[in-house]
Amino acid sequence: MEMLPEIANRRSIRDYIPDALDRPTLDRILEAGRRAPSAKNRQTWRFILITREATRLEIQNACFGQEYVGQAPAIIALCTTNVDYKMPNDQFSHPVDIGIAAGFMMLQAEHEGLGSCPVTTFIEEDVKSLLSVPHKMRVVMLLTVGKPAEEPELTDRFPRERIFGYEHW
Ligand SMILES: Cc1cc2nc3c(=O)[nH]c(=O)nc-3n(C[C@H](O)[C@H](O)[C@H](O)COP(=O)(O)O)c2cc1C
Repeated sequence: MEMLPEIANRRSIRDYIPDALDRPTLDRILEAGRRAPSAKNRQTWRFILITREATRLEIQNACFGQEYVGQAPAIIALCTTNVDYKMPNDQFSHPVDIGIAAGFMMLQAEHEGLGSCPVTTFIEEDVKSLLSVPHKMRVVMLLTVGKPAEEPELTDRFPRERIFGYEHW
């Protein structure tokens, strides 16, 4: 089945070559998030790029010491600027919006020959304080980005018949 190569090849990377990434590449990854769709196009998000090593290591601490977090030359904190908005289906928009933006960024990273990993195992209050995130805003996800130092197997997915429904559940 032919898929976009970025979708077919992406896998979470948890071991990085720590070399710095060039700024235009990182800007394109941020831009991929900016171009992502959001409910009502409200774009209630803020993406914080962290490349400074001292900050990355502090974020690593806030991620329970997971080494790959500090090792990655770039971390993007995907934050929401609104936690109240519900979509017409009575569900909150911000986890959906941020999730889609993260997906776009991961695929752009893959396109750039880079690896990434979504990270939600962190103490949010600690990350907020490190990045001066205002009290009412939330850090929904961190995304580590860098040149892969590993080539892990693709992870399995449930079989299609378990996931796809046609015309009904
Ligand atoms: C919402 C979300 C949260 C995740 N949080 C973490 C995390 O905290 N730490 C981690 O190592 N991986 C995390 N991951 C990565 C998943 O473990 C990974 O995407 C999943 O096992 C499938 O593997 P793949 O990305 O290689 O295809 C997260 C992924 C998603 C989508």
